[in-house]
Amino acid sequence: MRVLSGIQPTGMAHIGNYYGAIVNWVREQEEGESFYCVVDLHALTIEVDPKELQKGTLETFATLIACGIDPNKSTLFVQSHVAAHPMLGWIMECTASMGELNRMTQFKDKGRGSESVKAGLFTYPALMAADILAYQADRVPVGEDQKQHLELARDLANRFNRLYGETFKVPEPQIPAVGARVMDLTDPTKKMSKSSKVMNSKIYITDSDKEIQKKISRAVTDTYEGVAYDPENRLGVANLLEIFSAITHERPEIIAEKYSAYGPLKKDIGEALVAQIGPIRDRFNELLDDKAELFALMQKGASRASEVAEETSRSARRAMGLVVI
Ligand code: TRP
Repeated sequence: MRVLSGIQPTGMAHIGNYYGAIVNWVREQEEGESFYCVVDLHALTIEVDPKELQKGTLETFATLIACGIDPNKSTLFVQSHVAAHPMLGWIMECTASMGELNRMTQFKDKGRGSESVKAGLFTYPALMAADILAYQADRVPVGEDQKQHLELARDLANRFNRLYGETFKVPEPQIPAVGARVMDLTDPTKKMSKSSKVMNSKIYITDSDKEIQKKISRAVTDTYEGVAYDPENRLGVANLLEIFSAITHERPEIIAEKYSAYGPLKKDIGEALVAQIGPIRDRFNELLDDKAELFALMQKGASRASEVAEETSRSARRAMGLVVI
């Protein structure tokens, strides 16, 4: 069983990224052979600040390792380090039709109608298909928003196989069960987000123990009596209970029964978070301090990924009639 997923190089994670997605990747690596890719080429599809992109790529890579992606169990790599990605990306662009790419809702939302939008934003899903197909992946853990892109990857694999002979594994269509949906601590009607300007709205994996506890203690609750899990009416508390549940794997309703006031609940969540995030923060800082280790890990991932992706690329090229030497 092979798993592949990609993550944008947006930099250091917050607990919403951690409990929502990264923990699933960590779990997946125990179940099969996993490939995790930091998609820096996809990041180029909108205007980038080169310094930010570089920082974001290093931080994203370090975040994943600090959070538990083990380079001895998984292949963790940066997309631009594996030349087979843009090669297969081109092949996918020449397999997909304009009509198909035009129907992608993400492009419609982000780019349609603007003359200056980059051509790469339009062909983004073809490169994503290449990412997936290069590893002959069986499963692709992504969020609901990527479902249409995953379906396109399946269509392109099927079409290519029909036209040129069996070359790509067709990945499974279903979106795996998602992790926790962590909400903004100051406005629990919104998802916790990197782009929020409100510092207390999110907890980064680099926050100090004090900051973690402070942000939890200031998290929005309500004026109801007692503690109960009521995700419809008591959003703030529900969010806190869900965060606690993501840490302890106990159901939020059960956790709620143990408390009668917010103070002690928040204190315990703060402590549990500190115990879980503290070691992640320390490992993250260590990796960013020692770039030699980080680069060596990137090298290791890139060479393993290249072996697999290059083999697929050669088969695809040969199948299409390109001369392979
Ligand atoms: N498009 C995905 C996102 O925005 C990232 C991505 C790129 C990806 N290539 C991938 C995800 C391959 C899964 C598999 O989140």
